[in-house]
Amino acid sequence: MKVIGADSVDSVDPQTASGIEELRRWRRALSGDSILGLVPTMGALHEGHRALLRQARQQCDQVVLTIFVNPTQFSPDEDLETYPRTLEQDLQIARQEGVDLVWVGDREELYPAGFQTRIDLPQMAQQLCGISRPHFFAGVCLIVLKLFQIVQPQRAFFGEKDYQQLKIIQRMTLDLDIPIEVRGCPLVREKDGLALSSRNRYLEDESRRQALTLSAALFRARELWSEGVVQSAELKQQSLERLDPAVDLEYFEVIDHEQLTPLEMVDRGRGAVICMAAIVGGVRLIDNIILEP
Ligand code: PAJ
Repeated sequence: MKVIGADSVDSVDPQTASGIEELRRWRRALSGDSILGLVPTMGALHEGHRALLRQARQQCDQVVLTIFVNPTQFSPDEDLETYPRTLEQDLQIARQEGVDLVWVGDREELYPAGFQTRIDLPQMAQQLCGISRPHFFAGVCLIVLKLFQIVQPQRAFFGEKDYQQLKIIQRMTLDLDIPIEVRGCPLVREKDGLALSSRNRYLEDESRRQALTLSAALFRARELWSEGVVQSAELKQQSLERLDPAVDLEYFEVIDHEQLTPLEMVDRGRGAVICMAAIVGGVRLIDNIILEP
């Protein structure tokens, strides 16, 4: 496995210089007909990331994992500087999952002085998570588009854990005629139901117990759906009874799985997704569940 850009890490191949140009050289040396898969992450890898790497490994000839804690998707009051960084462990996971290249992004190289460009998806990015994090998806789109340009994969893999992010990236890829197939991977949970997230490590015992009631509420919604409940208000009201009172709910929305628009009623033939966000013990968590047609 080749590693580019992780100069500070001991166990790294010493001849790996850094940066974008190095990655481009590696890319150019690949044979023309090999399928390259990209898995973009911010590191602090867990089983959810592993599932993406495995899917990419199965579906591509070469797999690139990128690790970069992207400043443009954090607002000044968020956890950019304290976001968990576990590079040694991440490299070990990458090795175990058969990754061909790990590329660690460098902030100064990706956003040099004078950087200006912004990407805007006015409708899809300004609802759900976009309401409390208005800067967020513009930052995500910007870095993902840059990674697409730098790596030039044929396929890119994103988790359904971040459902709105996945749909926005698919929309951007379509709108901008980017020749990359964006594939979604199912959400991975702990055995007890908690959706895996790099930020779960911030949860203390009591808040972790409270956080479990997010997935409990979503599982309840899926149960109600399978029993024939189709009115969003009813799904919402009954499911939220499962939520611990200490959970500070940001949103719980029944939405169309492509447009992300709120639904009053779910069409049995089309299904829907329920997305939610909440703050638990000071940690912001998101989760969702698909209501299959
Ligand atoms: P990050 O939170 O590190 O997630 C990287 C990828 O892993 C995303 O596609 C995310 O949806 C997926 N993922 C995280 N937890 C998951 C889980 N429990 N099950 C399945 N997939 C999961 O998302 C980002 O980074 C960034 O916004 C990024 C796209 C890298 C742009 O900076």
